Amino acid sequence: MAFLVTGGCGFIGSNFVRLLRRAEPRQRVVNLDALTYAGNPANLSDLENDSSYQFVHGDISDRPLVDRVLSEHSIEAVFHFAAESHVDRSILDSGPFIRTNVLGTQTLLDASRAAKVRRFVHVSTDEVYGSLGEEGFFSETTPLAPNSPYAASKASSDMLVRACHHTHGFDTVITRCSNNYGPYQFPEKLIPLVISNIEAGLPIPVYGNGLQVRDWIHVADHAAGVLAAFRNGKAGEAYNFGGRCEKTNISLVKTLLNLMGKPETLIRHVADRPGHDRRYAIDCSKAERELGWQVRVDFSKGLADTVGWYRANPGWVETIRSGDYRRYYQSQYGHRGV
Ligand code: NAD
Ligand code: DAU
Repeated sequence: MAFLVTGGCGFIGSNFVRLLRRAEPRQRVVNLDALTYAGNPANLSDLENDSSYQFVHGDISDRPLVDRVLSEHSIEAVFHFAAESHVDRSILDSGPFIRTNVLGTQTLLDASRAAKVRRFVHVSTDEVYGSLGEEGFFSETTPLAPNSPYAASKASSDMLVRACHHTHGFDTVITRCSNNYGPYQFPEKLIPLVISNIEAGLPIPVYGNGLQVRDWIHVADHAAGVLAAFRNGKAGEAYNFGGRCEKTNISLVKTLLNLMGKPETLIRHVADRPGHDRRYAIDCSKAERELGWQVRVDFSKGLADTVGWYRANPGWVETIRSGDYRRYYQSQYGHRGV
């Protein structure tokens, strides 16, 4: 018997695989990852000699491959992280988002049901709920109202998972988390982008007025939430996770500049993201009550540690400075970046 993690070479997946090896040392872990631009096997290089961990290079949309992985490894539970995850890229081209997030999830779900997997944990996002005004929080009963192609693809996958439970009685649990930060996050996302631009002496692009609000959670707390949902969640349910840590983008950028000893004159207000969601804030009381989960990482400490991690691992960002990421940065920001 083994656990299957999809997208384990990405940011959250790699942090989750590491947690799983610590928390369930007797379970074998298989990581199925297509190694897109965001997947980096080096994120799990510390597990190279771990005989209970195995990497399989492949796509979740490849049904024969998924069938083989599920049966060869007698997969008992699936933790589904694999996705196209960046909103700005979904605005440039939604095709890969539909292929992986919708069709890939459908393939993985159907194959998992056919293979009689005991539980399927679908890792989703708070972005499926749309945007909040000044007040209120997303709860699990908030209607889904996705605003970006990324969010629409994730909401579609949530619906497929929900329908699979309702129609076939398949044991599924959905997790919906707010904005993660921490080690191994791809530098297209706000926090690592700001850190790596500061390190490279580049300007910091802030979309629009920077007054949009995100609820930040350390990746270790999200990973612990996914595991708690697997262990204690009720079949067919969704659970929200958030950091109870709302920040405007502009205040977060200023905090990082301050932390890294750089002036606020590096800030550049650039064209806003089309359809930019104003505010996300999560009510995670259901997860606290029913899963025994709670946020553990203090934001100031988590952020300082994250800056420390990027500073201690310049080679990691350096490797990502591939032709592909350069091209994306140029088309997104109009100048050469990291
Ligand atoms: P990421 O972009 O860092 O990693 C995605 C991983 O999935 C990569 O390793 C990539 O190679 C792999 N992948 C992509 N398409 C694949 C395919 N077709 N087959 C197999 N592997 C494939 O993403 P992340 O930020 O770690 O997010 C992981 C999951 O968590 C996603 O489902 C995302 O929607 C969700 N999520 C992310 C956040 C966040 O703040 N980053 C918050 C809530 C939920
Ligand atoms: O809420 C969960 C979601 O958080 C996840 O589902 C997504 O996978 C993840 O990418 C993240 O989405 P966001 O769009 O909120 O994250 P991002 O880091 O791209 O942007 C955070 C905020 O910062 C957002 O309001 C846009 C803004 N921003 C972002 C970038 C990259 C800027 O102002 N400038 C930038 O250059």
